[in-house]
Amino acid sequence: MLKKFKLLNQFFHPEENKVDMSFSPFITTIGGLTLQVMQAGDENIPDLLVLERQVYSGHTPWSKFSFETELRKRKNSLYLVVYHASDLVAFIGARFNPREAHITNIAVSPKYQNKHIGTYLMQWMINRARKTNCEVVSLEVKIDNNIAQKLYSSLGFKSTFIRKDYYKDTHTDALNMVLWLKPHRVKKRKFTF
Ligand SMILES: CC(C)(COP(=O)(O)OP(=O)(O)OC[C@H]1O[C@@H](n2cnc3c(N)ncnc32)[C@H](O)[C@@H]1OP(=O)(O)O)[C@@H](O)C(=O)NCCC(=O)NCCS
Repeated sequence: MLKKFKLLNQFFHPEENKVDMSFSPFITTIGGLTLQVMQAGDENIPDLLVLERQVYSGHTPWSKFSFETELRKRKNSLYLVVYHASDLVAFIGARFNPREAHITNIAVSPKYQNKHIGTYLMQWMINRARKTNCEVVSLEVKIDNNIAQKLYSSLGFKSTFIRKDYYKDTHTDALNMVLWLKPHRVKKRKFTF
């Protein structure tokens, strides 16, 4: 999950961003559940904060203000909410530039976990990145979040490097993971000891 939006703004330049961010709501069925998938807006923030508390032991890594700020950046980001009737089941967000899609957040409510909803949402975002001609999908994940890492690995994401002390609140390192959508050259790094 992305820690700070400011950091990303250094890399995403809106004037260079020609990515089509249009989205039409749809209905899908996963594991027998009929789910509504919509673009997230301010009206979903109270539900999103409840979902965060459920999955992060009462914490809200993204505050109300963070959600408000992020959900309004519709020119280069896409935030989706998934509802089962009036229950918020899950959400996923990504920032796009012409080369890269960066998954900023994903969470599935505990009641609905382990039903392949997380996998579905990741696949949806990867397909969207493919359609917009991105070369790579990237994300950060807590070093000890084995369930999420397993999910990303199963979709073809590879671990690249560790960001030390990335999550300052818990002093946890983040693992950077990438999924290449196009052939790429691996840059050889020079190490000096
Ligand atoms: C990570 C997360 C989004 C996965 O969503 P999900 O809908 O439960 O995932 P899926 O059902 O698609 O399962 C993906 C894999 O994880 C495994 N998994 C999911 N929940 C699990 C659990 N509670 N215990 C063990 N394994 C689990 C599944 O076995 C599955 O592997 P499989 O295909 O081999 O069976 C969800 O666990 C979550 O919201 N976690 C808290 C927030 C979080 O960590 N977000 C990631 C931030 S980077």
